[in-house]
Amino acid sequence: MKKFIGDFVVSENIPLKNNHFLLKLTQAEPLPLMLPGQFVQLKIDDTSSAFLRRTFSINYVDRIKNEIWLLIQVVGDGTRSLSKYKIGDSLNLIYPLGNSFSMPTVTQSRLLLVGGGVGVAPLLFLGAILAEKGYLPSFLIGARNVDGLIELEKFQQFGDVYVTTEDGSAGEIGFVTNHSILKNAFDKIYTCGPTPMMQAIAQFADNKSIDCEVSLENKMACGIGACLCCVTQTHQGNQCVCTDGPVFKTNELVWQI
Ligand SMILES: Cc1cc2nc3c(=O)[nH]c(=O)nc-3n(C[C@H](O)[C@H](O)[C@H](O)COP(=O)(O)OP(=O)(O)OC[C@H]3O[C@@H](n4cnc5c(N)ncnc54)[C@H](O)[C@@H]3O)c2cc1C
Ligand code: FES
Repeated sequence: MKKFIGDFVVSENIPLKNNHFLLKLTQAEPLPLMLPGQFVQLKIDDTSSAFLRRTFSINYVDRIKNEIWLLIQVVGDGTRSLSKYKIGDSLNLIYPLGNSFSMPTVTQSRLLLVGGGVGVAPLLFLGAILAEKGYLPSFLIGARNVDGLIELEKFQQFGDVYVTTEDGSAGEIGFVTNHSILKNAFDKIYTCGPTPMMQAIAQFADNKSIDCEVSLENKMACGIGACLCCVTQTHQGNQCVCTDGPVFKTNELVWQI
């Protein structure tokens, strides 16, 4: 897919709970095709420590407003600086990068999207596209506590939402892998979040022979397959998460589960 580099303008920057914010970016040109699972690399000019571009999943594409949404958690200097961007500020993006989640086959209709923490970000766009295609996906969202549950009301627009928290402050208590919804039958699972969560979901899917895709968030630098800092081990050898991924079928990955 063709990649672009260009300046965007902040159209909204909405503070959310638990050190998250939703950054909405727009540009004059109509946005090109972007697929769920793809990401952008963003240049933060005003922080010397954020010399390298920062990587964020596409959270949603609003075609009517010509906006890309990024759901971001403040973890360091770059994301802290971004959280302060105001309407009208400019940001340079390389987009859209990476591959994408695959659409269900004709025999796959019972779809489960499992997200943890800020790993829910690409699942909103995926859920929106699946709903547009006539599916009713189930979302299973996990967090440490109720404050870590982000964008729930947006997920509810596209499917059924189930929740777990480790402290029981919302939904069922425990990890996503403990949720009773997993007793239901599913044809395909998509997941993104902390590595132990994705590994546990991959193991669950493998045990039940369910097709499963993960979006990996290995640390990245160049984002275009040149520096090899993002490689992951697969049964076909080492692959770059930035160009061969970030989405992989779980049975392609060599994981120590
Ligand atoms: C494909 C991909 C998609 C991503 N999507 C999102 C997203 O939608 N929303 C979001 O908030 N973040 C996302 N990330 C993570 C995001 O890129 C980092 O949080 C960000 O670069 C940190 O920048 P910083 O300058 O604030 O922190 P830094 O100062 O660079 O680092 C601060 C802390 O964050 C850790 N960190 C840095 N990069 C990563 C990473 N890739 N994964 C885990 N920890 C990291 C560092 O180890 C350090 O402890 C994604 C990463 C990848 C590779
Ligand atoms: S980030 Fe440089 S090769 Fe993937």
